[in-house]
Amino acid sequence: MAILKVTILHDVWEEGPPEPEPEPVKAPRAKNGKRPKKKKKDPLHDREEIFAALTKLGHEPSYYILDGKNQSLLALARCGADLIFNLTESYAGNDSMDKNIAAYLELLHIPYTGGGPQALYLAQDKSLAKKIFDFHKIKTPDFATSYKGRTDHSHDIEFPLIVKPVSEDGSIGIDNGSVVDSVKELMERIHYIHEEFDSPALIEEYIEGREMYVGVLGSYEKAQALPLVELDLSRLPEGTPKIASYDVKFEKDTQAHKLTKSYLVDDLDEKTTARLQEVGLAAYQAVKLRDYGRIDMRLTPKGEVYVIEANPNPWLSSKQEFAMAAKASGRSYTDLIGEIVELAMARYATSAENSS
Ligand SMILES: Nc1ncnc2c1ncn2[C@@H]1O[C@H](COP(=O)(O)OP(=O)(O)OP(=O)(O)O)[C@@H](O)[C@H]1O
Ligand SMILES: [Mg+2]
Repeated sequence: MAILKVTILHDVWEEGPPEPEPEPVKAPRAKNGKRPKKKKKDPLHDREEIFAALTKLGHEPSYYILDGKNQSLLALARCGADLIFNLTESYAGNDSMDKNIAAYLELLHIPYTGGGPQALYLAQDKSLAKKIFDFHKIKTPDFATSYKGRTDHSHDIEFPLIVKPVSEDGSIGIDNGSVVDSVKELMERIHYIHEEFDSPALIEEYIEGREMYVGVLGSYEKAQALPLVELDLSRLPEGTPKIASYDVKFEKDTQAHKLTKSYLVDDLDEKTTARLQEVGLAAYQAVKLRDYGRIDMRLTPKGEVYVIEANPNPWLSSKQEFAMAAKASGRSYTDLIGEIVELAMARYATSAENSS
């Protein structure tokens, strides 16, 4: 493959000033009315690993930061990259703007990796994504959404339920209080979601079962599911819900984090494995993910498969589930990054051919 100038694009959220103490003064709100998010990631950023992999592949990597100011958008238009490796998750602290960054790159005709504005929009609104899954007969937990007393949609749902912000990621707003067993707890949790995130609450039936992740690599009909990875939640203390809470994912010093670990799944029969992969692939395609994505699922003791959500552009750290799955499929980390670059570039070669 030709040597490419690959610009790793990211936003500055993680490098912002430390969060102010929440008490007694309420934390300031970001421009979109939400509270600034907690820092999500490890000190080992995936971007440094991606940079090293791109260098190994013979490309010419560089970094570019979108800092939420117009100037950084204007300069991006002139960055001269052959390809943007798109790691942005928000703009000026607003997560729902990731789709606008992808759309801006399209306007500029700059090739970029990962989900387009369509995927970023469809996957971010979990309630919308669930409606699409339903259309495609992909099983997803029954749900309702509620915003300040208004119900957008409701199945006839039954306790236990889990209450989440409708469009956060990184388990923001998900803790031991998220799973509710009574109307009182439910009302309190809906109120909490409104207050903390100024967001509709997604109220889903809680699915007891194993936490399975299906990584998918590729685009459209050529996408392929990778080996399954499970986040083992079984060792979480008795009486706490078996969920991938914020603590489990990011708070290294908590018991919850220490007691949970991801493994490659090797104890499922071929049929169940294939079913999880097929459903994962169907969900990936339903919400128009491309290049790489991760579908979060639950496998019940009865063998039912539920899609919890679809993640475009999942975290690419070599220690995370997506890279684990790619490794199990025989790809080194460098191979994985090279393949994402090739998948993205192939899309633009195809569109150039079609337009000529
Ligand atoms: N309906 C459900 N039944 C059982 N567990 C659930 C359900 N919904 C969410 N969970 C648990 O909560 C976790 C976080 O939920 P979800 O994936 O929707 O949040 P998220 O913030 O988008 O996560 P991320 O973007 O980090 O993948 C899930 O991985 C799962 O452990
Ligand atoms: Mg998830």
